[in-house]
Amino acid sequence: MNRDIKNIGVFTSGGDSPGMNATIAAIVKECSVAGVQATGIMKGYDGMIDGEFWTLDNDAIKNIIHKGGTILKSMRCERFMQLKYRKQALQQLTKNNIDGLIAIGGDGTFKGLLAFSEICKLPFIGIPGTIDNDLYGSDYTLGFDTAVNNAIDAIDKIKDTASSHDRIFIVEVMGRDAGYIALGTGLGVGADAILIPEKAGEVEVLLNKIKNHQHKESMIIVVAEGDETGAYQLAEKIKKTNAQADIRITVLGHIQRGGHPTFMDRMLGIRMGVAAVKNLLHGEKNKMVGIVQNKLKLTPFEKVVKQHEVNTEMLELLDLFEK
Ligand code: F6P
Repeated sequence: MNRDIKNIGVFTSGGDSPGMNATIAAIVKECSVAGVQATGIMKGYDGMIDGEFWTLDNDAIKNIIHKGGTILKSMRCERFMQLKYRKQALQQLTKNNIDGLIAIGGDGTFKGLLAFSEICKLPFIGIPGTIDNDLYGSDYTLGFDTAVNNAIDAIDKIKDTASSHDRIFIVEVMGRDAGYIALGTGLGVGADAILIPEKAGEVEVLLNKIKNHQHKESMIIVVAEGDETGAYQLAEKIKKTNAQADIRITVLGHIQRGGHPTFMDRMLGIRMGVAAVKNLLHGEKNKMVGIVQNKLKLTPFEKVVKQHEVNTEMLELLDLFEK
């Protein structure tokens, strides 16, 4: 155990994700058992720069495990890209007696920590918190399961109206540059087509399908926001292939990121939160705690920030289901 660590700073950064609150609760509980103070840093790197610190105790984490969002608030912080603000953040950490940091966020958060490690010698541990599931070093990221379930729930409803009107629905889901949310959602709802950035040529397959079925029938097409065709351009292409097609576009947007976390995201948060504290106290640093084949695993930040590749088994399922 690292006796030098008496106060651990914890913050959430980037897009919030369901399960962040469960993670914070687990961190505070584990710190309290270990006799270490947990300090919340508000609004990610922004609060670190401006010195917005909050002593976390059992009262602070009461009744939060089931809540989406993050009690610590979150931001994308442009200022942290500049050295002068990173220096200011370091001064605030020193002033508030922080001995180690736990960051819950995505690749932008960990890139920030890598830059920070050039001037700040405190140990950092990361926890993958993003609905996009695009981090190397963890099979699942916090919030991904909830986001996919939210999208599935919305599309199940869309399917009712799509089939009543024999309409084609193009549903755009989040994921930034990654197609994981689209793939999981599309498979989960039995979509007629799934368009993701990691797989080219899907538009042609879809247009052929539409050409060969000129009679009016409902369809669900799930498109990742990062796919190069995009929902609106796809609608135009479908219209050119079949002028009769009655098309509607739904962009699910931030509804995917809110709401109660699923059991899976709560457990992921609790397991990774506890592991982050334990690893920090055992002297680990500059690594992310992830889940690989359902076991906790540490991966250095340098490796984490490279793009997560879509699992080939899921891609094979995509081929099977769109036939
Ligand atoms: O990274 C999570 C994510 O929800 C992406 O899927 C999406 O592209 C982005 O954040 C949206 O960001 P913001 O909430 O800043 O609009």
